Amino acid sequence: MSDQNPPFGLARNLTNYGDPDFARYLRFSMAKSMGISRASLAKPVVGIVNSFSEFNNCHRTVPELVAAVKRGVLAAGGLPLEFPTISLGEVFLNPTSLFFRNLMSMDTEEMIKGQPMDAVVLIGGCDKTVPAQLMGAVSAGLPTVQLVTGPMMTARWHGERLGACTDCRRFWAQFRAGAIDEKTIDEVEGNLATTAGTCAVMGTASTMASVAEALGMMLPGTAAIPAVHADRIRAAEASGAAALALARAGKTILDIITPRSIENALRVLLAIGGSTNAIIHLTAIAGRAGIDISLHRLNELSDTTPVLVDLKPTGSFYMEDLHAAGGIGAVLRELKPLLHLDCLTVSGNTLGERLSCLDQYVDHGVIRSLREPLQPQGCLVALFGTLAPDGAILKRAAASPQLFETTGRAVVFSSLQDLSQRIDDPELDVLPEDFLVLQNAGPFSESAMPEAGYLPIPQKLGRTGVKDMVRISDARMSGTAYGTVVLHVSPDASSGGPLGLVRNGDRIRLSIKERRLDLLVDDAVLASRRQKTSHASPAPARGYARLYRREIMQAQYGCDFDFLRKNPTRT
Ligand code: FES
Repeated sequence: MSDQNPPFGLARNLTNYGDPDFARYLRFSMAKSMGISRASLAKPVVGIVNSFSEFNNCHRTVPELVAAVKRGVLAAGGLPLEFPTISLGEVFLNPTSLFFRNLMSMDTEEMIKGQPMDAVVLIGGCDKTVPAQLMGAVSAGLPTVQLVTGPMMTARWHGERLGACTDCRRFWAQFRAGAIDEKTIDEVEGNLATTAGTCAVMGTASTMASVAEALGMMLPGTAAIPAVHADRIRAAEASGAAALALARAGKTILDIITPRSIENALRVLLAIGGSTNAIIHLTAIAGRAGIDISLHRLNELSDTTPVLVDLKPTGSFYMEDLHAAGGIGAVLRELKPLLHLDCLTVSGNTLGERLSCLDQYVDHGVIRSLREPLQPQGCLVALFGTLAPDGAILKRAAASPQLFETTGRAVVFSSLQDLSQRIDDPELDVLPEDFLVLQNAGPFSESAMPEAGYLPIPQKLGRTGVKDMVRISDARMSGTAYGTVVLHVSPDASSGGPLGLVRNGDRIRLSIKERRLDLLVDDAVLASRRQKTSHASPAPARGYARLYRREIMQAQYGCDFDFLRKNPTRT
């Protein structure tokens, strides 16, 4: 073993005792205590990230995926070794899963770098897990394959098809408006999420799976396979073999994640009606490779990328339908004229080679053609203006076109607590044409940018049939939500952005055509308000919360920690 040059498998990354031969001898001795033969210990190692957790329903199937990845690695002649990382279950975390995304990325990066492996298979699924894993893996820089747990199947209830979580929101809005009673909402609760897997619509988890396939980081055709489909287990087996093949070919994640593959991923994000969260995550992943994503470039791509996929929350279908309709492969084939085809994928082929076979099945009822798209432009648009000097995001595909060019009166909520206390107050001074504004819910706030940007319609308006209003905040929105919701306003209110200076009654102008979001208040008035406004509360005294507050960046930097980016802005 001491002759390996360069060292591979368990001989990599030796523990530092000041005596490498001793370290190697001790490691192999301990490894043998696990009952692994000397022949197996001499093989290249594929690490398998096991993010199973009973606090993460979306990762229920991870153990069987790990077993299948191991089969694939063994059959290809490698030694598979699984290891745990933290897991992020979207609805089980306080204050929000985004708060922990960078922590999971650090765990993933350091365990890949610190342990002896030649390649790694990442198994993730729920919203923040895939971004965290890709961010960490980019920083670690090994041959890497992403595998996802896959989406849930839909359920049937009273003749209706239900899937988490666009339908969750639809029924909750009906309950709030008094249209359905408590017994009905209890029944719905039991029928929204009935299988293992991630949310059944084009929410953040499905978007990030699709984006990962478009980046070339997942095996072709694997993003949309339902969690409980046998193909999902076969995909896991193939992912194990692919990771080993990448190691043998000397191809790392940095050969796959490049400026051109990032643009491909943005195209796909825009064409699938993807989640607003994905722009934050993709920016963070790219930042780990030293690649900047500009929101102005996003707008250019959005102008020339139509929405093709008819999935909830912007359309009608569910992820299982996308899989049956041809999956992300079919989307990529439709987008082919717009893509960089020379990008390498984890299969070892380029994207162009993958797409060279044009006669594959596609159901155009679910995946429209480039000539007859669902919408002529991409699903996301970035806005700039005096209210958002560094940008904001709107999912125009999920918004109401009649609200695109409007000026409204601000009804301001200064925090999440203020929102929950007053939004349903019968005395609240609010009209359907007003703009609801939420402050202090951005990355620098105590609430750490929760998915609270989908402000509820005030109950007294909801009961009169109002279904959408312009809502503006520095928060995020679940990928499963919809409405005319302006998000990620930057700089956020807690770090001194103009959003924190908005007061009840101010006029705000929204223009999607001009990509503008402007606060129509005199500079002198704003300057005087600024003097009287206090910003974020003091930094937490200790622990990860302290690190978060010290290092968190704004949305246009992907809410990464500055020191984790390849090119930090601070030195
Ligand atoms: Fe995990 Fe929706 S709760 S993807």
